[in-house]
Amino acid sequence: MNVDSKNVPQHIAVIMDGNGRWAKRQGLPRIKGHEAGAESVRAIVRGCREAGVKYLTLYAFSVENWVRPKDEISGLMSLLRTFLENNENELHENQIRLRIIGRINDLPALIQRGLKRAMKATQQYTEGELILALSYGGRAELVDAMKAIAEQVKRGELKPAQITDETIAAHLYAPDVPDPDLMIRTSGEMRLSNFLLWQLSYAELYVTDVLWPDFREEHLQAAIEAYSKRHRRFGDVG
Ligand code: IPE
Ligand code: IPE
Ligand code: MG
Repeated sequence: MNVDSKNVPQHIAVIMDGNGRWAKRQGLPRIKGHEAGAESVRAIVRGCREAGVKYLTLYAFSVENWVRPKDEISGLMSLLRTFLENNENELHENQIRLRIIGRINDLPALIQRGLKRAMKATQQYTEGELILALSYGGRAELVDAMKAIAEQVKRGELKPAQITDETIAAHLYAPDVPDPDLMIRTSGEMRLSNFLLWQLSYAELYVTDVLWPDFREEHLQAAIEAYSKRHRRFGDVG
């Protein structure tokens, strides 16, 4: 890759969007778009590993996505299961830790069991982290964090005046994961759709018109290259 390694983002978060439109364009049912999107996931996990990106968070299913038609949801769930079955080996081979963020208890029991087993089997790996956002919502995550903090206050373990940014960050789903440096959204939509509302505060945003099932390593490289040229100021003067 043509990028100075010091300018490679440590953490990339992706809103994998456009599967339905991709399918529609070819006269296929939406689920075919999701199936094709699974190939992009494989390619991008590999691309991140090769580029030296340590953390990759993929928005796979939002809390809002539960309103979709039942057959699309069940199709997505079975796709998730086969994806895990077919790709767990690669996580072991490359020593990548699998993590889930989101309301995992909302997922079907069988999927939960599979996810928990795979998370446990990979938890010792430190080469990279693949973080899947499933039944994830940024507001839901903050609500869950607030509830846990309120309980601490109620038990007398914490005073309201002691609450800081760090307190909130420490109660998120994956508290030890650094904030994303780069957020990529495919299919051209200019919105966050409730993704990582806290963590994206200072992320660089990159939106491409490429639909997720067409997104490949070259597109990832283009995003990383664009990121490497950005000037992050974090509120300071230029
Ligand atoms: C993203 O693709 C995948 C999920 C939200 C699960 P979409 O299914 O949202 O595709 P479009 O936006 O309808 O094209
Ligand atoms: C965001 O995409 C969620 C995922 C990619 C999983 P959506 O397609 O659900 O977002 P909206 O509805 O267009 O905002
Ligand atoms: Mg969409």
